[in-house]
Amino acid sequence: VVALFPSSSFSFSLKSAKPFLRSNVEDDSPFREDFLFGTAASSYQFEGAYLSDGKGISNWDVHSHTPGKIVDGSNGDVAVDSYHLYQEDIKLMKSLGVNSYRFSISWSRILPKGRFGEINQAGIAYYNELIDALVLEGVELFVTLCHFDMPQELEDQYKSWLSSEIQEDFGYYADVCFKYFGDRVKYWSTFNEPNFQVTFGYRDGTFPPSRCSGHFGNCTDGDSETEPYIAAHNIILSHAAAVDVYRTKYQKDQKGMIGIVLHCAWFEPFSDSEADGLATDRANAFFANWFFDPIVLGRYPEEMSQVLGSTLPEFSSKDMEKLKQGLDFLGINHYTSYYIKDCIYSACEPGLGTTRSEGSFQTIQERDGFPMGKRGDLGWQYIYPQGMEKMVTYLKDRYNNVPMIISENGYGEMNSPMLTTGDFLNDVRRVEYMSGYLESLMAAIRKGADVRGYYAWSLLDNFEWTNGYTQRFGICHVDYNTLERTPKLSAKWFKGFIAKYGKTP
Ligand code: NOJ
Repeated sequence: VVALFPSSSFSFSLKSAKPFLRSNVEDDSPFREDFLFGTAASSYQFEGAYLSDGKGISNWDVHSHTPGKIVDGSNGDVAVDSYHLYQEDIKLMKSLGVNSYRFSISWSRILPKGRFGEINQAGIAYYNELIDALVLEGVELFVTLCHFDMPQELEDQYKSWLSSEIQEDFGYYADVCFKYFGDRVKYWSTFNEPNFQVTFGYRDGTFPPSRCSGHFGNCTDGDSETEPYIAAHNIILSHAAAVDVYRTKYQKDQKGMIGIVLHCAWFEPFSDSEADGLATDRANAFFANWFFDPIVLGRYPEEMSQVLGSTLPEFSSKDMEKLKQGLDFLGINHYTSYYIKDCIYSACEPGLGTTRSEGSFQTIQERDGFPMGKRGDLGWQYIYPQGMEKMVTYLKDRYNNVPMIISENGYGEMNSPMLTTGDFLNDVRRVEYMSGYLESLMAAIRKGADVRGYYAWSLLDNFEWTNGYTQRFGICHVDYNTLERTPKLSAKWFKGFIAKYGKTP
């Protein structure tokens, strides 16, 4: 087991919280001139204004309004009201010295009824204002088309991702976004973490559309053994449809890049047995490679085909052609790491970790004297900075060093009522986390990984999906009574880091 923080991880710890002058830029900075240092956000978690200006009802509006779905009974009706407070948020970003913003467009603001209805011009106007305001401040845009929320109409009409019809809807939506915003957006991501979207939505049933079966979760409808793969298949082909539109109609003039963001946890074999090594390959296959492989290599991972047989949908030869090299960059959301233990050659050990029966392996983060790094505040988040370098290097090797962007990395804390605002502002652990992970990222870049950006999740505390407002991920604090935003120590530290290592003004 590797020690948690290499001693040098602390070399730019709290002392560096004061801003650096540009003349202090490190000569040995590994980052490219145009490296994107940003903060990330998403429409449902940030915007609020859920009925404003012609927006349609989204799947997350429906889900969060259903009793029992969100732990604190909350929803994103107001969230952190970035719909109205975006100018303030931009000022905050400027004060941090970041040069880029990652946010998502609310599909139901643009097409309240999908392709069955009109384009909502008020929604177009809102994103035009936001984009123009960012451009005016010299902030580069990284825009996600679907960060979990989508028009409920598509669920009601044809069960959204379970139907191949969705490919046409998504392609159309993407076309509208490229047409209206693409002149100013240089980085597009089609989806955010579809690996979690389909696992939570169709296996466990905790995300909309709340479908599952058997021991996987508590649903009234669905099939956990098959539907996640059908939904994923339609997401992959929807991605391909959007990329096709971008490449054939827009990319030449707009000169942007298009990719997809996956949740990329680092998996390490629990022991050096061959069985645990193979289980680790299966874990990767059933996680990020599930999507990256078809999109970059034109086929599902071998391990998935072996385990699932005919349950895994097939790509036609036309699909495969369309899919190959179907992205310009990999978007990497990296938060934590797990040990992987085989459950084929030896039985799973209940209580040791989470069993992923579909791949016959267990994900484990802690066993007496055998923790995956250091325990974080949220239970699932173990702090293992080396995971960043290992993950990036793994993806670099697997996908021939295609450009990569760290689209999210961040540290979550429980919103404990015992803590004061002052406690939250003094987020020493988040500073430790970010410094460790950024140092690890720098090591990967120094060894040749083509990484183009890093986004801290998140600019602000916000609505954390089924956990509502019980968890805080922001580098700026939000007072949920007044919506006042205040930079935490980590924001000041990030500012210092960018000033020290960033090269773009
Ligand atoms: C990744 C998701 O993209 C984001 O929406 C979420 O808030 C963070 N992880 C933290 O869990």
